[in-house]
Amino acid sequence: MTPEEARSAAKQKLKGICGVYKACDGDPSRLCQNQIYGGPMQMGGAGSGASFANNYSDLANIRLRMQVIGPHFEPDTTTTLFGKTMQMPIYGAPVTGVNSFGGERVITEEDFCTATVEGCKQAGTIAFRGDTSTYSNDYIPGIEAIAAAGGHGIKIIKPRAQQHILKRMAYAEKVGALAVGVDVDGCGSYMMNVNKQPVFRKSIDEIREWIQSTTLPFIIKGVMCVQDAEAAVEAGAAAIVVSNHGGRVLDCTPGTATVLPDIAKAVGKNCTVLADGGVRTGADVVKMLALGAKGVLIGRDIIRAAIGGGIEGVRVHMEHLQKNLASTMLMIGCPTLNDITPAILERP
Ligand SMILES: Cc1cc2nc3c(=O)[nH]c(=O)nc-3n(C[C@H](O)[C@H](O)[C@H](O)COP(=O)(O)O)c2cc1C
Repeated sequence: MTPEEARSAAKQKLKGICGVYKACDGDPSRLCQNQIYGGPMQMGGAGSGASFANNYSDLANIRLRMQVIGPHFEPDTTTTLFGKTMQMPIYGAPVTGVNSFGGERVITEEDFCTATVEGCKQAGTIAFRGDTSTYSNDYIPGIEAIAAAGGHGIKIIKPRAQQHILKRMAYAEKVGALAVGVDVDGCGSYMMNVNKQPVFRKSIDEIREWIQSTTLPFIIKGVMCVQDAEAAVEAGAAAIVVSNHGGRVLDCTPGTATVLPDIAKAVGKNCTVLADGGVRTGADVVKMLALGAKGVLIGRDIIRAAIGGGIEGVRVHMEHLQKNLASTMLMIGCPTLNDITPAILERP
């Protein structure tokens, strides 16, 4: 299977939900942005879609400096995440709730979780697994998939009541997950609240309670300002994900590429800074690394790869991104990821 074949299959299955366009850019004319007021968000962004669109356009507006004269080299895309070697600094984002896309006709949530976790593992990288309103204390398919993969996965939990978070963290630790975290930007989720799974803003003390309860590295996902990044570090987070949830939690934010440099400058020495939002190609990965991220997460493209091709679809998509990253590194004169600095960006 090729990545393109997986995308074609996804286009058939996602009719009416996602157009699997060449550019997944959050434009208001796109199918995903055209859904009924008050209906589920599915693949789109919040409100006008500006935050989703800004993720894409802020990255697209950054230019790379091509530099091709010098000794030849084979680019090395390997990195480590929490002490584990990865073939690329590109990870599967925690994406959930595909069971609301049309049930078994599209993919079951269980098969989806397995596809992302196992597909990323086979590609030499790792998937994050998320949390959603159709999950419950007794139904946590993301952790089950991580368990089946021998612990090769990272669990991100919604900012639920403290006892529910601590319970899921303990379960993730028991199955040997690499790390655990909370998407703090899930605190306004309408779907969680209407499904009687309330979510909350969290204080530094509450975050500290999570971190002190586990031996696993802890990740705060959903950071869009220096103040929150510093709070995460103060509480003891090992990593943050600069993210606006793919533009799904608040309308009118900047793109993540715009806020990333200041955040990385403020906390990059004290924690691992990851980023997501609109990352679709090797060039996008390079841009995020040059802006200060140590790795990136792939959201909507992983959904399409899993729905179109299951485990294999995810594997070939991640392998394609790794090759695309390597060829981009060759063209900008960066043999290793550490060579990717702001100097490889062209100022307009
Ligand atoms: C359908 C869908 C479901 C998502 N579910 C979750 C989730 O359960 N937990 C979470 O932290 N983020 C979730 N996200 C956000 C992603 O983890 C990620 O931040 C975002 O998709 C990255 O942007 P991109 O889609 O442009 O790559 C979801 C995104 C989408 C599109």
